[in-house]
Amino acid sequence: MHSYYGKVAMPKAELHLHLEGSIQAETLLAIDPALSAAEIQANLKCRTFEEFLRGYIWITGKLQTPAHYALATRHLLERLAAENVTYAEITLSAGVVLWKQQDLAAVYEAVWKESQRSRVRTYWILDAVRHFGAEHGMDVARFAVTRREHGVIAYGIGGDEARGPAEWFRDVFAFARDGGLHLVCHAGETCGPESIWAALAIGAERIGHGIAAARDPALLQHLRESDVPLEVSITSNVATGVVASLEQHPVRQLYDAGVPIVLNTDDPSFFNTTLTREYELAERTFGLPVDRLAANSFRYAFAAPARD
Ligand code: ADE
Ligand code: ZN
Repeated sequence: MHSYYGKVAMPKAELHLHLEGSIQAETLLAIDPALSAAEIQANLKCRTFEEFLRGYIWITGKLQTPAHYALATRHLLERLAAENVTYAEITLSAGVVLWKQQDLAAVYEAVWKESQRSRVRTYWILDAVRHFGAEHGMDVARFAVTRREHGVIAYGIGGDEARGPAEWFRDVFAFARDGGLHLVCHAGETCGPESIWAALAIGAERIGHGIAAARDPALLQHLRESDVPLEVSITSNVATGVVASLEQHPVRQLYDAGVPIVLNTDDPSFFNTTLTREYELAERTFGLPVDRLAANSFRYAFAAPARD
């Protein structure tokens, strides 16, 4: 049996966590004291995926300087350290930084420097917005490969998979891979199994969410046999309404099919969760073995850390 405190103490790795989705009211108020609690709450609300994306854009609009990004990183890493997350791959929405016409090199330098001060061993995943298209994706990839020796471990695509099919990013993924980066892709969150097949076809090594795989036995078999993990975020999927209720989340079915599963928070400020809570849920609601899931979180980390 595990107590709540046992799961806090248990060393865990977080592999799917967006910096911008991890910013709490305290940080926002430090950045912009004119904000009201009501305004913050209204924008962090999400009942649909579209509402979530709107809130995500709102919050990124508050990050106006490299120092703002650094502060968000510091506060996030303090919270991760407190729940014994010993290793993290944090996603920076680099595509949104470019879209805001900010200095991506300066923003990245700020977050990377800040993360090096933490005892959480941290790497960065730079992601592009898939519905902004392949050219935009290539701009992010070009920058990402230049920081391979400086904390960037992977390239990814997020945003709206319905409006930005993975096939658009075939050459971009090849470029990032040839530049020495690992590849991740949000897929099978709001779209069906075909979106996951498309992500695999362009070389994704881990799938963000991927819960639609539960509807495709051939895909389940493929994920199991090729040892490609799904980065599952239970609370996120319930909050954005991509699953109808907690009880209907397919994590147990995916696990029982032998698909590698890693638990994550995705955007904890929007979904009001922590990694500890996700492990709690997995055990309590779905009867999953948390020790094995925690072991997976290190096993599927790109930098294969020691479990200390
Ligand atoms: N960006 C941040 N969180 C995301 C999610 N859950 N799906 C797609 N893009 C995202
Ligand atoms: Zn995500």
